Amino acid sequence: MDPIIAATHADPYPYYAQLRAEGGLVFHQGLKQWVASSARAVAAVLAHPHCHVRPSYEPVSKAIAQGMAGKVFGQLMRMNEGERQRCPRAAIEPGLALIDVNEVNALVGARLITSGADGLYAAMFRGPVCVVAALLGFSPAQGRAISELTADFVACLSPLSDQAQLDAAHVAAEQLKGYFIELLDDPNNRSALLAGIRQRFATTSTGSETLIANLIGLFSQTYEATAGLIGNALLALIRNPQLDSAQVDDLIAEVQRFDPSVQNTRRFVAAPCEIDGVNLNPGDVILVLLASANRDPQLNDDPDTFLLDRPNRRSFTFGAGRHQCPGQVLAMSIASATLRKILAMKPALDRLTWQYRPSLNGRIPVFA
Ligand code: HEM
Repeated sequence: MDPIIAATHADPYPYYAQLRAEGGLVFHQGLKQWVASSARAVAAVLAHPHCHVRPSYEPVSKAIAQGMAGKVFGQLMRMNEGERQRCPRAAIEPGLALIDVNEVNALVGARLITSGADGLYAAMFRGPVCVVAALLGFSPAQGRAISELTADFVACLSPLSDQAQLDAAHVAAEQLKGYFIELLDDPNNRSALLAGIRQRFATTSTGSETLIANLIGLFSQTYEATAGLIGNALLALIRNPQLDSAQVDDLIAEVQRFDPSVQNTRRFVAAPCEIDGVNLNPGDVILVLLASANRDPQLNDDPDTFLLDRPNRRSFTFGAGRHQCPGQVLAMSIASATLRKILAMKPALDRLTWQYRPSLNGRIPVFA
């Protein structure tokens, strides 16, 4: 086992406990990276101004830098620090926080979910992006096309993608941009979310290319992480048939802590600093084990027990600090509404088999 294999391992949590016992922030000889596993170290790394989301020598992954996907990647708040993060974030975050749960429920409710593994796949991977597209004012047909394009685009974010996938990601980025150019030109767009974002963007000096890149970013951030949350909630029900499946909101809240779809993230040290008693230097890489921090007894009492009514639940699944996920409430609403709809179809959970999608950081089951 190593901290990367752990993300898609059947049960990585005893291994994470072992890492925490060896120290919250320790150098891993095999990976040649620092590994933050305790809640204290994870919080300190995510809060530190010298721990950046990209290495300074490679702001955009070399594999995609020459194409359209790289152009989008280079403008995402997720991949930047300083003004290039703060400006788009200030324009987008407030609107995401204001989204009405009833609207999300209605959008998920209006979607057709078919039975069987294909239906589950569509509900997990296509549905959430279609909901975000609808909230921005796209039609259902556009949403379906956009969710397909997002599936292609996100390949540019994974080091596991091959050249054919990267080529498809460039094409998808170009097409997603085209969808947004049309949307932003449409005088009949009624989306309150889009109107608010545009209005706040207009008060900054940031251009429309950055606006469009970060709107595409909403789809890519939604895609796998929300699918994983829905899938891991189904796994919790399969593994614990005694759980009360009527308490869907509580189930989603505990699953995101207990078995997160985003297991880790990375930081790149930009200047000498001391974190959790360790001296770090420019060029150092830190693997930040969010999923391990959630199981740290310093963060949650009795952390290895799955508790629907856990009091004062604390979690790093959505990050922390300046890059903390602005889509958390939306993601949890979409996941709850989708799970409710799946369960209403009374799926034969005991007959499903699954495997985790190959990934360095995502824990995303695909059912068969
Ligand atoms: C279960 C679903 C989700 C999970 C687990 C998740 C998790 C995360 C995490 C851990 C980060 C921070 C990464 C880091 O600091 O290295 C993040 C950032 C982000 N997420 Fe989410 N996310 C989810 C869904 C969403 C949704 C639905 C949206 C929007 C529609 C969204 C939008 C974003 C954006 C824009 C960022 C970048 C923020 C920044 O860099 O300032 N996420 N997410």
